Amino acid sequence: MSFLLKTPAEYQEAYRQSILHPEAFWENIANAYTWRKPWNDVLSWDFHNPNISWFEGATLNITENCLDRHIEQLGNQPALIWEPNDPKEQSRQFTYSELLEEVNRMANILLALGVKTGDRVCIYLPMIPELSFAVLACARIGAIHSVVFAGFSAQSLADRITDAQAEWVITADGQYRGAKQIPLKAIVDEALEISTGVKAVVVVNRLNWPLHLKPGRDYAYADLIKNVTNFCEPVERSSEDILFILYTSGSTGKPKGVVHTCGGYMVYAGYTFANVFQCDAPGKIFWCTADIGWITGHSYLLYGALLQGATTVMFEGIPTWPDAGRFWQIIDKHRVEIFYTAPTAIRSLMAQGIDPVLSYSLHTLKILGSVGEPINVEAWQWYHAHIGKGKCPIVDTWWQTETGGIMISTIAGVTEAPPATAGHPLPGIQPVLLDAMGTEITEDTGEGNLAIRFPWPGMLRGTYGDPERFRLSYFATYPGYYFTGDGARREPGGLYRILGRVDDVINVSGHRLGTAEIENAINLCPGVIESAVVGFPHEIKGQGIYAFVVLDNSIPEMELIYDQIMEGVASGIGRMAKPDKIQLVTGLPKTRSGKIMRRILRKIAEGEINNLGDISTLLDPNLVGEIIEGRI
Ligand code: PRX
Repeated sequence: MSFLLKTPAEYQEAYRQSILHPEAFWENIANAYTWRKPWNDVLSWDFHNPNISWFEGATLNITENCLDRHIEQLGNQPALIWEPNDPKEQSRQFTYSELLEEVNRMANILLALGVKTGDRVCIYLPMIPELSFAVLACARIGAIHSVVFAGFSAQSLADRITDAQAEWVITADGQYRGAKQIPLKAIVDEALEISTGVKAVVVVNRLNWPLHLKPGRDYAYADLIKNVTNFCEPVERSSEDILFILYTSGSTGKPKGVVHTCGGYMVYAGYTFANVFQCDAPGKIFWCTADIGWITGHSYLLYGALLQGATTVMFEGIPTWPDAGRFWQIIDKHRVEIFYTAPTAIRSLMAQGIDPVLSYSLHTLKILGSVGEPINVEAWQWYHAHIGKGKCPIVDTWWQTETGGIMISTIAGVTEAPPATAGHPLPGIQPVLLDAMGTEITEDTGEGNLAIRFPWPGMLRGTYGDPERFRLSYFATYPGYYFTGDGARREPGGLYRILGRVDDVINVSGHRLGTAEIENAINLCPGVIESAVVGFPHEIKGQGIYAFVVLDNSIPEMELIYDQIMEGVASGIGRMAKPDKIQLVTGLPKTRSGKIMRRILRKIAEGEINNLGDISTLLDPNLVGEIIEGRI
């Protein structure tokens, strides 16, 4: 593959070219893919009134690049290996030819139901092969997929269906998660009481539960598949047509529908997958443990891996069931060569001790990856020593839902960075550090807010249905730059260390949550007047959720309030957003203009009570002492 960087000098030269001649650089990479029509213009952009377009005029279908173009050479090679929740159940494998057929069947089902190009299809499925088929089937027929992680509640699902105006839903009867069985169709039914406008629901059978199908709306996948063929012509799409929407949290209460388009996203997912993971020869076995409900699942488990002809592993279950050796057993079973997971999983397995690892050889592993949150040095060292046996490079990949693909990372075995330092920007990526005034920090080393100065093909093109939110969220804080919301440190040699979010977003077990969303859910609980949520360092989850809650006097049984808040958050957002700590307070520290001083609450939650800064401007400075006293 011509664009593969094999030495530090090749990386440096590619980086240099990508800055000097970005259009020629990306054009050369794009040429490695199959397009129906060539582009007229490689790039046009404006970061002030944000508008970004890559490969304008070109047409393509991403599934033709992920599947069809591999068939001749790799038709019989496994494309997808699916490992079920329960190790006693058989895993399933699909060759590239078989995967194409399954995708075509699903695509024909959607067409038969009446799904048209540009329609939004909401996918709310567990990690089963049909989830991959569904995503690719949408892409094949030019429908826009909006995958919603199956841990989100009915309310969250409804909000996402409404925002995207999705008319079609694909779900399952339920899902396995370790020893538990969790309903999904019932959650969809509840969501569709809130969000109207869905024309049809396709229900995949996973748990063999009786299907309660609403006549005229719900259809069993098992029935529909009997009437379709395994051939479906891919729809020709413009480079800038929307490929998918993926909702993510921001500083405000309402999740944003991040929009990615076809051409640039494909080029960037493929290029970064091939280089960061050095996946040069087809057939390498890659396992990304992320759920397809998150961007990592989209860009690397699915699109990136298939674009480059790898074999991708998809796991339905959880790392600790039936025991804490499950990940390591799967690596041996499927001979995984490249393993990509989140620090939170590493930390939780590390906490189980070394014994579960020792039963497995892990000798097939060549490259390890980390994503989603800063990895602490201790976890990095454990991962390196015990999983990589000291011989596998670790790529600590920094990126975001919005960036579409990896932005800052070492290239496995090619470039290096010390533990817990993401590394250099990838070719084409121009990071800058800005001070509070928005001035670029130009010294070799320094710390500031991380922004990007120049577009890259994988970047988001908008927030669905809300261009102003797109501008305000990413381009208004520092005019002329894309602002990431992260803080970072530049270290000698131009290496970047990511310090975490500088906005009101917290990263809990790699799940990105807005504090405002959690507060909204808490505030809806009976008896709650107001609340403030902040993050605090958590040994396993990275960050935990600390809620300060003010109640009125109407609560008869105080003990019940904790359960009610937990339940309120679980039903408002999902189980993953439940607070780790709830402190009842008589008031929140506010400025005289009524603004909650989160900085102070953050310090209290972090235990930094001797370093609260100036509190004299508070409306009621005495409150702070009271809150510190009640600290959990
Ligand atoms: O704070 C950064 C953190 O995760 C945020 C993006 O979250 P999300 O959009 O859900 O995407 C996660 C998967 C790409 C970032 O703003 N983050 C992601 N990767 C890293 C990271 N923080 C430190 N190091 C990383 N490698």
